[in-house]
Parts: sequence; structure tokens; C-alpha cells
Amino acid sequence: MERLIIKGGNQLHGEVECSGAKNAGLPILASTILFDDPVSVFNLPHLKDISTMLELLNSMGSMIRFEEDDGIEIDSSSINNPEARYELVKTMRASVLVMGPLLAKYGKAKISQPGGCNIGTRPIDFHLAGLQQMGANITTDSKFIYLETENLKATHFKFPKISVTGTENLIMASIFCDGTTTLENCAREPEVEDLINFLNSSGAKISRTDDSTVIIEGVGTLNRNNWSILPDRIEAGTYLVAGAITNGHVKVNGIQPTLLEPIIEKFKEMGAVISTGKDFVEIDATLTDLKACNISTEPFPGFPTDMQAQFMALNTISKGESTIVENVFENRFQHVVELKKMGADISLNGSSAMINGVANLVGSSVTASDLRASASLVLAGLVGKNRTEIEDIFHIDRGYECIEEKLNKLGAEIVREPIV
Ligand code: EPZ
Repeated sequence: MERLIIKGGNQLHGEVECSGAKNAGLPILASTILFDDPVSVFNLPHLKDISTMLELLNSMGSMIRFEEDDGIEIDSSSINNPEARYELVKTMRASVLVMGPLLAKYGKAKISQPGGCNIGTRPIDFHLAGLQQMGANITTDSKFIYLETENLKATHFKFPKISVTGTENLIMASIFCDGTTTLENCAREPEVEDLINFLNSSGAKISRTDDSTVIIEGVGTLNRNNWSILPDRIEAGTYLVAGAITNGHVKVNGIQPTLLEPIIEKFKEMGAVISTGKDFVEIDATLTDLKACNISTEPFPGFPTDMQAQFMALNTISKGESTIVENVFENRFQHVVELKKMGADISLNGSSAMINGVANLVGSSVTASDLRASASLVLAGLVGKNRTEIEDIFHIDRGYECIEEKLNKLGAEIVREPIV
């Protein structure tokens, strides 16, 4: 086990490179199951979740080859064991993304029950309802979900609630169905678009008739392809918050500003100076104390739930009162109790958090609980007086590539040490 030790109080200045998006890499890696030929994927972030997905594909029979310039070639044409084992699903819920492609290509899948996680029960009932409507026979026991089908059929399915991986799973399941599949109330996250663009560039026929309806015309096969994963807007947003919370000046390179629109709007509302270019976003918070902002998380193009914890940390030391409403997950305030240990003034009422800005936070020993909650604790540690120790940092390594190296390059003082 390891922990991060952060010496707070440094203003961050400089430039940081954005990595590839974890939440685009995961569905695109899962979609390689659909191909008869090897697929090369580039710009994958070096993260635990990505290695878990590669381990899962390999455990099913995919051949993984690491290429030069950081590419990975995946040949999933000879999968002989369409099963997602417990120890892999337990560590990464996104393993459920292999369900759709396995059914589409091999007609069967065995997935360990994903269970809940710290941010909510996170059922996959919409995934299963859609696959069932497409003709999958689904049975379950306490450990596994068993799915099989002679032939998935094109259908017209409406998601009861927007689901990112649900949308991705059913798009992948529909790729080879004869006829036209219509999916309504689909997610519009850029990571879903990256999967659609990748599959279309490989010969699939996927289109949107309106913002949230996706149409898939079945095709016979997909062609060999290479793809570079789009940049991670949540990582980029997190480093911009690091610049804001330390009253610093940070430029994130390798990110298109259009991916960050709702986040950029909030920074401007708070009084930060934002400049953008084709592939960078820069924040200057040196000139003023930021004013706290109200936030209500929504599916894209609304304010992303994956940035909620990070902006809560920022609001705790910004001027005035603010309210954050978490509309996507039912338990995504695990970071509140830890931020309060550092002196934050936050009160909770159901899905709302009321924050009163304080003059400063004080370093403390805190524990990470989930990926984005741990990011918010790192951000709070950057400004917490004296020293902050963060335990259970395996959560953060699932979604942030070398976070302490990137932040130390901007002037932070963070050390990773083993807990003996
Ligand atoms: C994806 O999770 C992301 N993960 C999450 O990122 C992100 O927070 C989330 O979308 C929302 O944007 C990946 O893409 C790998 P949902 P996902 O299905 O697809 C309910 C991170 O920090 N729901 O869009 O699992 C669900 O409980 C992670 O990188 C059902 O009820 O989220 C939630 O309340 C965390 N039944 C809401 O819908 C279902 O079958 C949205 O969940 C599916 C979802």
C-alpha cells in the first residue's frame, strides 16, 4: 500500500500534457472483440483500469502486443473463453463493456456480477434490458450473469435514464444485427463519440438522428484499423482546478477546449482568466480570489459528475457560499467527510452539498474512497497548510497517470511513499 504526502501552499505554474481518456480507451479496447483482424490503439493512458481491461481481453484469448510509439495491438479474433472473471470485474466495473461485443461476435458471455461501488449501487439493468430485447437469453446466480443468443436482432430500445456504458454496450451489440437498431435517450459524452467514430472508421454504420437517438445499420464485418484515443477532459479539468485552487497559472496542452465547455464556463463565472487555442486550455487565477460557484451535475453536455468532487475542493476555499447538486450518482459525496477533516465548511442535505468558503484548509491525514474523490483530496492538499497524507491512493492510480509527477512539474511538493 502507498500514500501521498503533500506539502501545501505552493502556487502552481507551468504547462502539463493531457493523457488519453480512460473512459474512451475502455470501450474501444472492449470493441476490439468485434474485429476479425488485429487493431492498433494509440494514446492509451498508462492506468490500472486500462491494464485491467487488457488483462481481461487476454484472459479471454485476445493476443496483446505492445508496439513502438506507445501503441498496443490487440488481436481478439480467436477469443475462446468469453468470461469476465470475478477478480477483474471486482476491480473494474467497466469490464461489463465486453458483454455487448461478446454477444455480437460469439453469441455468449459470462460476466461476474459487478456489484456496487463507493459512488452508488450502479446497476446494469438497462444494459441487460436492452440485450434481452435484442434476443439475448440472460440468467443469473449469486456470482455470475450468463448471456447467450443464437442471433441478436435489431430492435428499438429507449434507455429509461441516460447511461454512458449502457449506450456503448448496446451500440457494440448492434453492430452486426440485420436491419436497423434504434437506441433512444443515449449518452452524448465525447468518449461515446470516440467509440462511434472509431467503429464507423472501421466500417460500421452508426449515426445520430437527434442529440440522443443513435441508429445502427447492421454490417457483416469490421475492417482492420488503427485509432488514437481522444484526450481526457476530466484529467485536463482536474489540472486546471489545481491551477485555480493554488491561485496559480496552468496551461494544459493536448486538449480541445470544446471538450471542456461547461467546466470553462464555471471557471469564468468564478473570476479566473481562461485562454484557449486549438489544442490547449490555460487558466490564470493569480489576479483575483475566486468566487465560489453553484454546480448541478448532468449528463453531457451538462456539468460532468466526474468533475464534481474537484470543484467542491475548489469551492471550499473560494469566496462565499455555494451549492453543489449531484444528480447522476446517489452517493458521490464520499470526499465531504475527508474535506471537513481539513477544515472545509460543508453541510449535506440529500443530493445537495452546501459549502461556505473558508480562508484556508489545514493539512490532515485523509483517506481516498473513489477515483474522483481522491483527486479532490489531492487538490485540497495542494493548499492545505502544512502537510496532508492521503491513504488508499490506488483509487487515484486508476484514473490519473503519474499525478504526482505532473503536479510536481507545476511546482507542487508531493511524495509517494510505501506504508510499512
Ligand atoms: C460512466 O460510468 C463512466 N465510466 C463514469 O466515470 C462516469 O461517472 C459515468 O459514466 C457518468 O458520466 C466509464 O465510462 C468507464 P452511467 P457508467 O451508466 O456508464 C444509473 C470515472 O470517474 N444506471 O452513465 O457506469 C447509474 O446507477 C467513472 O471515470 C442504472 O440505473 O455510468 C447512475 O446513477 C466513475 N442502470 C446513472 O444511471 C444501468 O443499467 C448514470 O450511470 C446503468 C446506469
